Amino acid sequence: MLMNNFLRNRKSIRDFKNRKIGKNVLDQIRECCDQMEDEGYRFNLFEDGEKIFKSLEGIGGYAGVMIKSPHYVGINIDDSKEENIIYGAYSMEYLITELTKLGLGSCWISLTDIDSDLRKELFSTGEGNVNYLLAIGYPAAKNPFVTEAGSCRFGIEDIVYNGEIGKPIDMDQLEQRGLDDLFYYIRFAPSFHNRQPWRFVLEDDKVVLLLAYSREEGLSLADAGIIMYYFENLAMTIGITGKWTLIDRADYEDGGISYKYIGELKI
Ligand SMILES: Cc1cc2nc3c(=O)[nH]c(=O)nc-3n(C[C@H](O)[C@H](O)[C@H](O)COP(=O)(O)O)c2cc1C
Repeated sequence: MLMNNFLRNRKSIRDFKNRKIGKNVLDQIRECCDQMEDEGYRFNLFEDGEKIFKSLEGIGGYAGVMIKSPHYVGINIDDSKEENIIYGAYSMEYLITELTKLGLGSCWISLTDIDSDLRKELFSTGEGNVNYLLAIGYPAAKNPFVTEAGSCRFGIEDIVYNGEIGKPIDMDQLEQRGLDDLFYYIRFAPSFHNRQPWRFVLEDDKVVLLLAYSREEGLSLADAGIIMYYFENLAMTIGITGKWTLIDRADYEDGGISYKYIGELKI
């Protein structure tokens, strides 16, 4: 499937069929998890979804709304380095793309509010701890008579700026540079609480990625890795083959909102 169609049609799946994934497919998922292992993060497939759901019911996920699925994948990140969180999330989206090819649905689950000892006991992952889970399984059938509300998205003009944060981008200019579709589709990437904190500053020869955050809406570095993954893959479809380079620069502050510099990509 083309990446733009994939993004346009993707959405988090929170209702799964009460059906386990077959052994062959589970083996493929395990293999994919092993291949993605890095010194900063690793993925584990947890086959016994029931045990995890029972232990995290009422406490896992947003405000304790735990998602029930037949299996879960956990990501254990060494979060002492920001780049591990960013590239761990980047790899998680790669895994999600592979799962979609296998006909599987998924949804990220935040475990930030879960006591670290409980996580250690439940996932027995040795060193480190599981930061996020991915609920995985076959999506439950939808009621054809009910139109599902999709998660809303910001407009291109809310997330893409010309040269500096706050300076509006001219849509004709985006079109002339062949970047209009890319910024249209990238908006469908998932983010923590659907906050869509990504901001792109377009310069002559590069795009700079920043993440917006405030005291009320904290920084979610996972959202940076997610958008970087989709940006690179969408850019590839229009012949831009560059990769993001992380940048370390003091935050940009504007009207009570902080913008953390994440990376830049040559275009
Ligand atoms: C880092 C991260 C953590 C998330 N945690 C949860 C969660 O705990 N519970 C949940 O229901 N959805 C969670 N989500 C899913 C987002 O809410 C979802 O991606 C967003 O609302 C956009 O909806 P969509 O994925 O259907 O387009 C998470 C997403 C991300 C990227």
